[in-house]
Amino acid sequence: MGEFHVIDHPLIQHKLSIMRDHRTGPKDFRQLLEEITILMGYEITRDFPLEDYEVITPMAKMTAKRIAGRKVAIVPILRAGLGMVDGLLNLIPVAKVGHIGLYRDPVTHEPKTYYCKLPSDIERRSVIVCDPMLATGGSSSDAITKLKEKGVTDIRLLCLVSAPEGVKKVQTDHPDVDIFTAALDEKLDERCYIIPGLGDAGDRLFGTK
Ligand code: PRP
Ligand code: URA
Repeated sequence: MGEFHVIDHPLIQHKLSIMRDHRTGPKDFRQLLEEITILMGYEITRDFPLEDYEVITPMAKMTAKRIAGRKVAIVPILRAGLGMVDGLLNLIPVAKVGHIGLYRDPVTHEPKTYYCKLPSDIERRSVIVCDPMLATGGSSSDAITKLKEKGVTDIRLLCLVSAPEGVKKVQTDHPDVDIFTAALDEKLDERCYIIPGLGDAGDRLFGTK
């Protein structure tokens, strides 16, 4: 079973509370999501392997460390996942970025794909899938399935707010994928929105409602 991590550092909890507040507008919402993503980025990259290499400082020669292993790809699920890309690129500036466009059908809540553009060497990369909301889990699970169909074997999922239903679905469909979230909320409502959640992440991010 993939590991499930709630990254609840006080700074993250504080910033997330402001994001949840219905009075917070798109400008602050975007800024806070980027800041939280950077903070979560420390944890999601914690197990990246290191290798030794030689550095000559102004004082002496030393054995220093650098990140080794697979290169990284960041794959946001459109639209709301876009709000997490810049935060991750701040930490991993050489990462490539793929995009998967999915929306939830308003009646069935099933995810529908409308776009998929990935780096050509995606199967050789460690992939961070990002989407602030893990509700039913349909969107994230579908995105991960698409990546696996392209040959990707190393995938982690970065979310902001998760519902128990979504965590269960991803863990069942993709037991090899670790999930990182800032909060595990109570439940879904009858429209499959997370309660208490923060509303529609895409609309709040881009001011479309
Ligand atoms: C939201 C959110 C996730 C999805 C989560 O996107 O950003 O992608 O819903 O729900 P699920 O876990 O039940 O699949 P939405 O479909 O509203 O599209 P948008 O980002 O374009 O607004
Ligand atoms: N998508 C959102 O943006 N918010 C939810 O609460 C559920 C799905």
